[in-house]
Amino acid sequence: MAVVCLEFFSGIGGLHYGLQESGVDAIVAMSFDMNENANTVYEYNFGIRPNNKAIDYLDIRDIDRYKASCWLLSPPCQPYTRGGKYLDNEDPRARGLIHLLKLMPKLDNIPSHVFLENVMNFENSQSRRMMVEVLGQLGFDIYECLVSPVQLGIPNNRLRYYMAATRKHTRSAEDNVKWTREYLARGKDAVFTEWPFGPALKTAAPCPMTPLAQYIDPESNDDQSLMVPETYILKRKRLEFDIVQATSSQTSTFTKGYGSKHLIGAGSLLQTKRLDVVENGFGSPERLLDLGLRFFSPKEVSRLHHFPYADDQRKSDFDSAQPIRYALRFPTSISQSQQLKLLGNSLNVHVVAELVKHVLFS
Ligand SMILES: C[S@@+](CC[C@H](N)C(=O)[O-])C[C@H]1O[C@@H](n2cnc3c(N)ncnc32)[C@H](O)[C@@H]1O
Repeated sequence: MAVVCLEFFSGIGGLHYGLQESGVDAIVAMSFDMNENANTVYEYNFGIRPNNKAIDYLDIRDIDRYKASCWLLSPPCQPYTRGGKYLDNEDPRARGLIHLLKLMPKLDNIPSHVFLENVMNFENSQSRRMMVEVLGQLGFDIYECLVSPVQLGIPNNRLRYYMAATRKHTRSAEDNVKWTREYLARGKDAVFTEWPFGPALKTAAPCPMTPLAQYIDPESNDDQSLMVPETYILKRKRLEFDIVQATSSQTSTFTKGYGSKHLIGAGSLLQTKRLDVVENGFGSPERLLDLGLRFFSPKEVSRLHHFPYADDQRKSDFDSAQPIRYALRFPTSISQSQQLKLLGNSLNVHVVAELVKHVLFS
């Protein structure tokens, strides 16, 4: 029988696509997110509108009614970042996750599988500590790791924290307390940074790097809507742009600011002209004006994030053996900049699929 899942903080459904690519026999019974743009895209692709009630206000019935045995979570990352002042559990944006952790032991249907994605540094947070305490006391085994798509052969850096927890029912209540205490005492040593690790060691395939050119549509070089406006470039005194060419080995993390005037730290810009000039992005901005700098298109970013694209003629080396029931498309009501924002907030589907397949359901 298919595993019944709930997807919390669903966005455009990155975890749902990851579950699909993993090949695990599972369905997502309900998703939860309060961002209406994200929910519009989600409904367009999965045919079901996520519940838009704030997760911090869900009650036991809202969750128990689905009799779900697997929870997928990608809560907001700001509480654990410099931008969010590292407020951790004190940040109102952490409330949704904390609320779910408090509800979990009171449910009739406590999940037996829990999967969470977040930014690097979540492993140092009070939220993570609380999560280990709740899951440990309920008898879960926990795997935590930091993985970037680069480690799996995808030329995009997106180092993220993942937790995969499975309830084994093999420990007594006393043993659960002891297990949790000992697990927490391991501190950072509990977090794997190599891929593959633990249960995946036996089953994960090696990952040769795929060339970046395979992810790029050369025809997008002529798309004026993707060109970085001169005003954005000239406005900067200190540059430090990440400029890549199709022959580069990697791209940097695309964030929710990608495609806007916030050029620094938001994601790579693609150089499409004067390819003999290799720029490091430092120095005077005028120099960059004739390099044909453009943003990666939503399609290219989705490809780097390994979302299945319905009308994509390109086949990547990791195309899933699994049938694609749900692909990613954007309704015309969602503008290009909204698409990039939603993609910047999302995740790498292939990394999730590998962890779900080899660690969560190993
Ligand atoms: C990091 S994003 C997750 C993105 C998602 N994994 C994807 O693939 O698009 C966090 C999401 O949580 C949603 N969110 C944040 N706080 C929420 C809350 N209290 N209740 C419901 N949704 C919330 C945001 O709207 C956002 O879409």
